[in-house]
Amino acid sequence: VIVIHQPDQLRTFLNEARSERQRVGLVPTLGALHGGHRSLIRRAVTECDVVAVTIFVNPLQFGPAEDFQSYPRDLSADTAQADEAGAHVVLAPPVEAMFPEEPLTRVSVRGLTEPLEGWRRPGHFDGVATIVTKLFAIAGPCCAYFGEKDYQQLLLVRRVVSDLSLPVVVVACPTVREPDGLALSSRNAYMNAEERAAAPVLYWSLLAGKRAIEEHGVTNPGDVRAAMLEAASHEKRLQLDYAEVADPEDLTVPNVVSGEVRLLVAGRIGRTRLIDNVAATPPDMGG
Ligand code: PAF
Repeated sequence: VIVIHQPDQLRTFLNEARSERQRVGLVPTLGALHGGHRSLIRRAVTECDVVAVTIFVNPLQFGPAEDFQSYPRDLSADTAQADEAGAHVVLAPPVEAMFPEEPLTRVSVRGLTEPLEGWRRPGHFDGVATIVTKLFAIAGPCCAYFGEKDYQQLLLVRRVVSDLSLPVVVVACPTVREPDGLALSSRNAYMNAEERAAAPVLYWSLLAGKRAIEEHGVTNPGDVRAAMLEAASHEKRLQLDYAEVADPEDLTVPNVVSGEVRLLVAGRIGRTRLIDNVAATPPDMGG
């Protein structure tokens, strides 16, 4: 894999690829690559001719009390993983290359970004929307691959692309899980062994909500939440932040579960904040 550090080098590289009619795939990341990222890259490799991975710990999306300074940075390990998964080029720019001066512009998506992670992480989604728009501007027309694990982010990216007519096809990829159900995340590495053993409770909570809808025919979102909260309460190490039932397109809470919904949870185990989500579809009520 070719490793470059200047955004303009990526622009030139991908422009050349497109001039040879190659399809471009883009996998934006914060680095600390794991199996989830590798699955995004592999998917991109199957659908595109040239795949670029960006590794940039984006200061705009971290709050003042968050882990920007301590976020794991290991370019050689990341490059090895990108290479193994089949990426062709890695852009790993220093902050000064991305932001030679303090950026005054923000891309901000209303509505979608207000619930769930939105009000708990003020400024986070503006930071994500801004950097993703910038990476799309650098990369040019492409297919861009995002994991469903960050579901609210995925919806936000789709909305930025459609609202701003960006020449990007957003491809959503399923969450990759450990054998015990824990969704892969760079932040999993923050946990000690005991915390790690407790962490799958978030997934169990989602599965309890999914079972309530799909197997027990529960249609009241409050009752679905109660099932999720009950499952979450079995693990004392979890400080649950939220467990919600939401419309899969706009994240509003439905009055009744009558079609596919998204179940989303967030919580802290020790000092590690984790999020996860699954889809749930009620059984056909037509009879
Ligand atoms: O999901 C991530 O890793 C980041 O939020 C993204 C999309 C790369 C933007 O910095």
